[in-house]
Amino acid sequence: MNAMKKHVAVYPGSFDPITNGHLDIINRGLEVFDTLIVAVARNSEKNALFSIEERVEMIRETLGDNPRLKVDSFPGLLIDYVARQEARVILRGLRAVSDFEYEFQIAQMNHSINEEIETLFMMTAVPYGYLSSSIVKEMAALDGPIDPYVPPAVKAALDRKYGRLL
Ligand code: COA
Repeated sequence: MNAMKKHVAVYPGSFDPITNGHLDIINRGLEVFDTLIVAVARNSEKNALFSIEERVEMIRETLGDNPRLKVDSFPGLLIDYVARQEARVILRGLRAVSDFEYEFQIAQMNHSINEEIETLFMMTAVPYGYLSSSIVKEMAALDGPIDPYVPPAVKAALDRKYGRLL
């Protein structure tokens, strides 16, 4: 426990793709933690639009160089990855009551595997409460407006995926 770095948090997700809602959590996370590791789960069961490499690249391009931010991906269990990073905190965003049950379940499961690691939640900022990666993808596929919801690197990647010229 003492060897673990107290001020490092891991912010995990599928990030398929990263949205402004995730970025809000990252920016606020940086106010609280010295170092934030944005970690893309490699074994997400979801049917993904973007490859892990594409997702990591979009996050890197969006976040730019910041010595307090690291972008990574991980195979296997999140809790093991967090321990390998010598971090004590998993940061997650909560959008609505509907997120709670799932988050509660994985937080409890993770804590039962390693009780030295805590999951901390931040309430998603109001403009992003209804936002999700799936909604963004559906909007993009149907040529809806996505600019307010995603960073430019993601907008460009979605345009390319759906065959639109920039
Ligand atoms: N604002 C807006 N939207 C947000 C948001 C925010 N602050 N935070 C999350 N979302 C949305 C995402 O866009 C995404 O939308 P989608 O469902 O349409 O794709 C959804 O909420 C959740 O996605 P994301 O934040 O990317 O994370 P996730 O729930 O897919 O991540 C892991 C789950 C990676 C944490 C979990 O699967 C995991 O730990 N995997 C590793 C394997 C493991 O350890 N499993 C055992 C767990 S007990």
